[in-house]
Amino acid sequence: MIIAMEFRCSTASLAELPCDGLALGLFSSNWQEQLRPWADQLGQPVLELLDKRQFKGKPGELVTLQLPGHQPSLLLLAGLGEPENFDGNALRLGAAQLAKASAGQGCSQLALALPLEGFAPASAAAALVQGVRLALFQDQRFRSEPETRQLPTSTWLLGLNSELGAEIQRNEAICAGVELARELVAAPPNVVNSLSLEATARTLAKDYQLELTVLDEEGCRQRGMGAYLAVAQGASVPPRFLHLVIRPGGPIRRRLVLIGKGLTFDSGGYNLKVGGSQIEMMKFDMGGCGAVLGAARSLAELKPAGVEIHVISATTENMVSAEAIHPGAIVTASNGKTIEINNTDAEGRLTLADALVYASALKPDAIVDLATLTGACVVALGDEIAGLWSPNDALAEQLKDASRQAGEAIWRMPMQASYKEGLKSSFADMKNTGPRPGGSITAALFLQEFVDAEIPWAHLDIAGPVWSEKGRGSDPAGATGFGVRTLVEWCCQA
Ligand code: BES
Ligand code: MN
Ligand code: ZN
Repeated sequence: MIIAMEFRCSTASLAELPCDGLALGLFSSNWQEQLRPWADQLGQPVLELLDKRQFKGKPGELVTLQLPGHQPSLLLLAGLGEPENFDGNALRLGAAQLAKASAGQGCSQLALALPLEGFAPASAAAALVQGVRLALFQDQRFRSEPETRQLPTSTWLLGLNSELGAEIQRNEAICAGVELARELVAAPPNVVNSLSLEATARTLAKDYQLELTVLDEEGCRQRGMGAYLAVAQGASVPPRFLHLVIRPGGPIRRRLVLIGKGLTFDSGGYNLKVGGSQIEMMKFDMGGCGAVLGAARSLAELKPAGVEIHVISATTENMVSAEAIHPGAIVTASNGKTIEINNTDAEGRLTLADALVYASALKPDAIVDLATLTGACVVALGDEIAGLWSPNDALAEQLKDASRQAGEAIWRMPMQASYKEGLKSSFADMKNTGPRPGGSITAALFLQEFVDAEIPWAHLDIAGPVWSEKGRGSDPAGATGFGVRTLVEWCCQA
């Protein structure tokens, strides 16, 4: 749920602020000195109280002090470790940790003070707003009795001056996109399907005056999308190929395409997922679609000047039925290439194949696809890091920079051309699945067959970070909305 919370900047002293909670981040090296001015303002023996709790200022350390009868009556202290390691991401994590600690403490006006020396005001505002708002997000749509945990309604960002209003608004737009992605990904497969995703795209188009093209099954057939339709033919919900366009006013310098894998449920098809393969979690297989729709939500508001953004998703579910595709079937994608489907569970790449052909025809300056594509990528990089594949060094660097700014971890992986051997078919131009070793690399090589070689293209495998079992940093447990922040950052820097 999108929470009602406002952010305000303030350089005023504590006494002038109507806050009932004060949250401080302190470095380990000299936390007493950093705390002293606050203790003086509070007129409380805070240093002694902290010493009693054996506070050291180590990263992750958190102390909650109640000061009954005082204003503020709640004091939260987080350790930040050594100042040398304190980067934008650490600032975001500090803000997130303090915000989470303020929940359920009866605090409605929270003042947040973290060390901002050395940060550009815009990056400080981004880390603080995103850290607080994204960490406090809670999704209670599927509970009959929502949990009542009081959250602050106002957060004062101390040390930032009030001219940062536009920057705060910009980051609120980014958060709204992340929240949309989280809500789409977390919704169960009997709620979010291709038709509901179409409805979401229509709402975005209406709210922000975006151009929207929706292809139904017949429209996809006319365009020869045999790979996508092979996946969709087993589903009881009809497929929808979604294409939104965000156009700023004025001349266009760059045309970018964002593609998201949109499998609203992945049973595996006739290569049915077996025990231990997390079949019940496969609602998150539209995490790529969620990320690009979330990014669309943010970018429609930000409208980066001179950049035309196309958002595409071939949505469907991968099911078992009498109509579902047979293992061993040979289909033809919209670029004329034939594919032997030796495994119906490698369905994402089939839907992406036709989306990449469609995107290439738009003659963009770059294409980026996001997909929960392979379990192999999770084995390689774990659940915090997305894999990045691109034949284009410049684009790979841009995405790495954007992800660093955004605080989302990605790692570049090799496009090992010799592994194409593994996709050779005895009957068709290629198979959709290679050998198990290097499975996320052959998946990327498969996708490359459907991209115009002239167009810079990158593929992000987000199978790991799309979901967080326990929650981490500014991600509560569940859907993370991974990818939105990196995409928005990248489009805005283009
Ligand atoms: N959606 C899955 C990938 C996945 C698996 C994401 C586990 C997150 C967690 C994808 O469609 C899939 O089933 N991939 C297969 C490919 C294999 C058949 C080559 C996989 O990874 O097992
Ligand atoms: Mn699958
Ligand atoms: Zn899948």
